[in-house]
Amino acid sequence: MTIHIGAEPGQIAETVLMPGDPLRAKWAAETFLEDAEQVNNTRGMLGFTGTYKGNRVSIQGSGMGMPSFSIYANELIRDFGAKTLIRIGSCGGMQDSVSVRDVIIAMTASSVSTPSSTIFREFNFAPCADWALLRAAVAAAESRDVTTHVGGIYSSDTFYDERPDLNEQMTRHGILGVEMEAAELYNLAARYGIRGLAIVTVSDHLLTGEALPADQRERSFGDMVEIALEAAFA
Ligand code: HPA
Repeated sequence: MTIHIGAEPGQIAETVLMPGDPLRAKWAAETFLEDAEQVNNTRGMLGFTGTYKGNRVSIQGSGMGMPSFSIYANELIRDFGAKTLIRIGSCGGMQDSVSVRDVIIAMTASSVSTPSSTIFREFNFAPCADWALLRAAVAAAESRDVTTHVGGIYSSDTFYDERPDLNEQMTRHGILGVEMEAAELYNLAARYGIRGLAIVTVSDHLLTGEALPADQRERSFGDMVEIALEAAFA
């Protein structure tokens, strides 16, 4: 047991999918895993362990934003021995070529700051995905009926942004979408030598103002979960 995860040693798999929303973790575990068992409910941040095609896998909520994500990822890696972390989340589209419902597989994650900024200081580290996982996710996405983009995303510290100029510069530099967790995942994966990948579904669009209704969010989310599971065990 750790401060934020009440599971016993061995109750969490080496491969962990991490949605922001704990209820998404429950839905994904019940929908896609066999023999799913709840292993955490500390602070309501639900976590489950089960199997996918015979492979042991956990799905643990991360909460919103990099500080929350970082707490769960640190404990999963350092205390529970996680070797593969895949974020499954949502993002806001930032390019005309990206539409709501599309899936983005994040090659890199830019940011203004992350919880790791205190150790990087003046150094602009380039947080990037694990190549083998990224390649496997792209292959899994290509065999599905879902529009997929591969490229850079932006991990923001704010949802209600008072600096629209930052979003404009990200769009100008080809960033596909904005979310709030991936950069710290890639920082931690690099630091601890584990595999990290962020896959996100476009739930709203900064340029068009469009937003996906709740009922349609689920189907797109399902495609992303299956892409993540196929990539993890490719
Ligand atoms: N901004 C930040 N995070 C997000 C967004 C957004 O527009 N949509 C989904 N996650």
